[in-house]
Amino acid sequence: MEAFSKSQFDQLHSQVSQLSIRDAFHLLWQQYPQRVTFSTSFSLEDQVITHMVAEAALPITLFTLDTGRLFPETYSVWSSTVQRFGIPIKAYYPDVALLETFVAKNGPNAFYESVENRKSCCHIRKVLPLKRALAGNAVWITGLRSEHSSARHDLPLLEWDETNQLLKYHPLLHWTAGQVKAVIDEQAIPYNPLHDKGFVSIGCAPCTRAIRPGEDFRAGRWWWEDNSKKECGLHEKQH
Ligand code: ADX
Ligand code: SF4
Repeated sequence: MEAFSKSQFDQLHSQVSQLSIRDAFHLLWQQYPQRVTFSTSFSLEDQVITHMVAEAALPITLFTLDTGRLFPETYSVWSSTVQRFGIPIKAYYPDVALLETFVAKNGPNAFYESVENRKSCCHIRKVLPLKRALAGNAVWITGLRSEHSSARHDLPLLEWDETNQLLKYHPLLHWTAGQVKAVIDEQAIPYNPLHDKGFVSIGCAPCTRAIRPGEDFRAGRWWWEDNSKKECGLHEKQH
């Protein structure tokens, strides 16, 4: 852990757990001024958090990882989000040389051919840009919810991310999908229209499909792969 002991971390965790999200943002900002950032993929959760960040009026930075393979609808909601909240969202892009080499060798749709190719594509298009986005920050806010998957079920609200060497805060961790949608509706927050067409968890277009009633939240992501392998590496833990 960086400049704090386990007991300091425990104290911060317990404070954050007892505060409203807005007050938790303020506390984290006080502790780590200029070093709090939020990653948005424009999911329903991320849209609610963007609204909260805008309301808190703190200069928490927002960023998105533009893989180059997002749905047209995702670019539309990105655009309407900037218009609605008037806050900048910085886009991070894959390294051009790495991507050109990968596509030249494996073709544009290599992710369907093997898990290894799929992981390499996610690594180049998401994980490496994420490292650049997080550099210099002390707190990373995400839209993870425990209901998303078994891997996310037991996450703590605030955790030390050994891989990226910073704190991760998941403000909506214990929210239900219904609570998230209620805020979207009450506040008339722009959202990805694909959610009204059976898409639940939305990532890159070639790797996301709509789900059928009763299917898992993440069943539409990398649906051709074995369940145990379905993480893109953004939230993978170091073992
Ligand atoms: S993923 O690991 O499977 O891709 P998921 O789509 O569930 O993640 O999103 C969980 C959280 O990861 C989001 O709330 C957001 O904080 C972050 N995230 C995922 N994809 C992106 C992206 N393209 N750009 C920025 N943040 C992202
Ligand atoms: Fe590549 Fe698919 Fe991963 Fe997007 S989700 S980075 S297209 S493998």
